[in-house]
Formats: sequence, C-alpha cells, structure tokens
Amino acid sequence: MLRKTLTVLVLSSAVIAAPMVQAHGGAKGVVKERMDLMDDMKGAIKTLSAIYKGERAYDAEIVRKAALVIRNHSGDAMTRLFPKNSIHGPSEAKPLIWQEWERFEKLAKRQQVISQGLHDAAENQQGAAQANGHMMGSAGMMGQKSMMGGGHMMGGEMDSAEHYAAMPSNMVFKMLTDNCSSCHTRYRVED
Ligand code: HEC
Repeated sequence: MLRKTLTVLVLSSAVIAAPMVQAHGGAKGVVKERMDLMDDMKGAIKTLSAIYKGERAYDAEIVRKAALVIRNHSGDAMTRLFPKNSIHGPSEAKPLIWQEWERFEKLAKRQQVISQGLHDAAENQQGAAQANGHMMGSAGMMGQKSMMGGGHMMGGEMDSAEHYAAMPSNMVFKMLTDNCSSCHTRYRVED
C-alpha cells in the first residue's frame, strides 16, 4: 500500500520529486543501486547481441525476456536512482544530468518505449540474419535516424512501441543500443 502510494507519487511528479528524493536514501547506496541496474541491462544487451550477431540461435522467448529486463529498468525505475547531484565515489555521472533533467528523463523513457517495442517485435525475425548488412542502411532506418537527430525524441507518433513492434527486431535492437549510447555520450564521464 505504502509502496503503491510512493510509486504513484514518483510517477506523477518525477520532475518535482526527484530533487527531494536525495534527502532520503544514502547517496552511496543510490550510486551503487544504479550501477547494479545498468549492469543488469548490460547483461541483457549481451544476450541480445549474441543473438543478433548470429552467435546464438534466434529465440523469440529469450529476446522477449531480455527486452523485459531492460524495459523494467527504464523510465522512472532508472531516473529515480539519480537524485539531484548524487555524484559520489566511483560515480561517472555528469552534473549536466540535473541541468538537463527533462532531456535525461526522456532518454530513460524512450528506452522504455523501445524495449517494449523490442519485446513486441520478437517474432519479427526476418531481419536477424542481416543484422549488420544493408538492412541497417535502408530508407526506413535512415528516416528513423534523422527523426531521432531532430531533437524531438518523444515527438512523433513513430516513436511508439506499436511502431517498433512492426519492425524487424534486429533494427529495434540497434535503436535500443543507440539510445544507451546517446545517454552515455552526454551524461556519463568517459573512462
Ligand atoms: C538516461 C540515461 C541512460 C540510459 C538510457 C542508459 N544509461 Fe547506462 N549509465 C548512465 C549513467 C549516467 C551512468 C553512470 C552512473 C554512475 O556512475 O553514477 C551509466 C552507467 C552505465 C554502466 C556502468 C555501470 C557501472 O557498474 O559503473 C553500464 C554497464 C551501463 N550504463 C549500461 C547501459 C545499457 C546497456 C543501457 C541501454 C540498455 C544504458 N546503460 C542506458 C545513463 C544511462
């Protein structure tokens, strides 16, 4: 009951509530928690990557499972682990996160949409065999890319789970990993 209320609070006022969250959890704990969350996703990406590289047999059930791990770690599940200015110890987070909080949140939410789309596209295997081939450069993909580069990441109706669900799953996977990179490039310190 309490948990449900908290979730609703976080969901309904993530932008306002986020800076207040830090007053509660220990910052060290939060940094560790989000590193664990990121590492979980890395594991799921590894599994998917093996499938789309052809190192592992295509299995829609495994694709769905991995996509769900990522989806469940997206959006508020991720951003709630970034209370204001929580950079401590080994953290590689950049202060820019909190200067551009809405943009950061959008990337986390977009990941939720794409991973849901990947889950729903798991049966669309036809592109899998050519994951690194010319399909990636098709007109559809380029259109999607230029849309993403336009700064309206949440803008078009193309950016919906339904849209991704209709695409070959390897393309959705590529968009998912591009989204990880977009966030890291901007908001994570390079090693
Ligand atoms: C909304 C932004 C954002 C998205 C999206 C995102 N990350 Fe991260 N990620 C970060 C930030 C910021 C850090 C640094 C956190 C810190 O060190 O405090 C990080 C750190 C990591 C780390 C290092 C964890 C550690 O143990 O130090 C891994 C691995 C990682 N991310 C994987 C992923 C993968 C895989 C995806 C996509 C499925 C992803 N991330 C999506 C922002 C993001």
